[in-house]
Amino acid sequence: MHGATVDGAPAAYNRAANELTLRPRDEIPDGTEFRATVTYTGVPEPLTDADGSKEGWLRTADGAVAVGEPAGSMTWFPGNNHPSDKAAYDITLTVPAGYEGISNGVRTTRRTERDGRVTTVWHEAEPMASYLATVAVGRYETGTATALGSVPVLTAAEKPVAARTAALRAEVPTILARQVELFGPYPFSAAGATVTADGPLHYALETQTRPVFPVSSFDRPTLVHEMSHQWYGDSVTPATWRDIWLNEGFATYGEWLYGERYEHVPIRTRYETAFAQDANWAFPPASPPTAENLFEPPVYQRGAMVLYKLRETVGDRLFDEILRGWPAKYRHSTATTADFTAYAESVAGRDLGALWDVWLYGDEKPARP
Ligand code: ARG
Ligand code: ZN
Repeated sequence: MHGATVDGAPAAYNRAANELTLRPRDEIPDGTEFRATVTYTGVPEPLTDADGSKEGWLRTADGAVAVGEPAGSMTWFPGNNHPSDKAAYDITLTVPAGYEGISNGVRTTRRTERDGRVTTVWHEAEPMASYLATVAVGRYETGTATALGSVPVLTAAEKPVAARTAALRAEVPTILARQVELFGPYPFSAAGATVTADGPLHYALETQTRPVFPVSSFDRPTLVHEMSHQWYGDSVTPATWRDIWLNEGFATYGEWLYGERYEHVPIRTRYETAFAQDANWAFPPASPPTAENLFEPPVYQRGAMVLYKLRETVGDRLFDEILRGWPAKYRHSTATTADFTAYAESVAGRDLGALWDVWLYGDEKPARP
């Protein structure tokens, strides 16, 4: 680290493991806005999550891909790394000749420097949680399109996997238009997807506006899942990691709904299949026991089952209102499970405590689906 300023004045700093403390020269009165600048260089390293997955700054054969759910963003930039603390981002990347840098939001500039290096500037104007920030550097092929009449779409794929991913990448505008029908207005100003060759990245992630995929998980259901997260997770973000089913249950339900509407797969079948699997009942979706369990089947599948049961209980019309109203009410914001249950009850006009007790919080698998 080279230095820090607060409102332009040099600030004292101390770094102890994950915590960076700045001490501004002048006192900052409560409630006033201030600007902190941190200057640093380094060779970022990945970290290992509670569940054993590697994330943060991941080195690929000839570049890197950075993802951060839940913790990895702190391996490459300083910030208050909590899902409830969102900010706008401007990211500028300068990469070697022949390489591309990819990040979140709208690419506002791409220029070749005199020495052949390539500089791109990425602008994410809408509030973004730090775990949704991404960077990819490699030999990428990019494709551009327009969705919803005005949203710039930029997809990128590492050259060896570019040809075989082109057709699905080209579906992004169609999927987005269909999801707007299902979920309501798209919350962001850009869209796309980044596909890396298989390597150190082992999970797909709903990085804001431009989800990132290892090529082995770049299939339509996963693309639909990560794009569903743009409403459920990226725009409405869980206030704490314990509320993660608000992301994964909804994105899984988003896959089911897409399948029902556009691929003729009855949602009842998806529900019954999920109900029958023992792994989905290890714990209740709204209370994952430890950080190790955040991305396990009960969060995804049982989370989606909660929404299925809600639909069965309140009926299609009210359920649709809840599904669309939720990301509208908490757009670009954060929310808890209690916010969701209260919101659903307010739309339904009745107490749904019995439903939550069994499906969201209950330890036991119900006798019947
Ligand atoms: N949110 C990602 C998804 O769409 C999964 C992230 C997994 N992260 C982890 N540390 N295991 O399903
Ligand atoms: Zn997900």
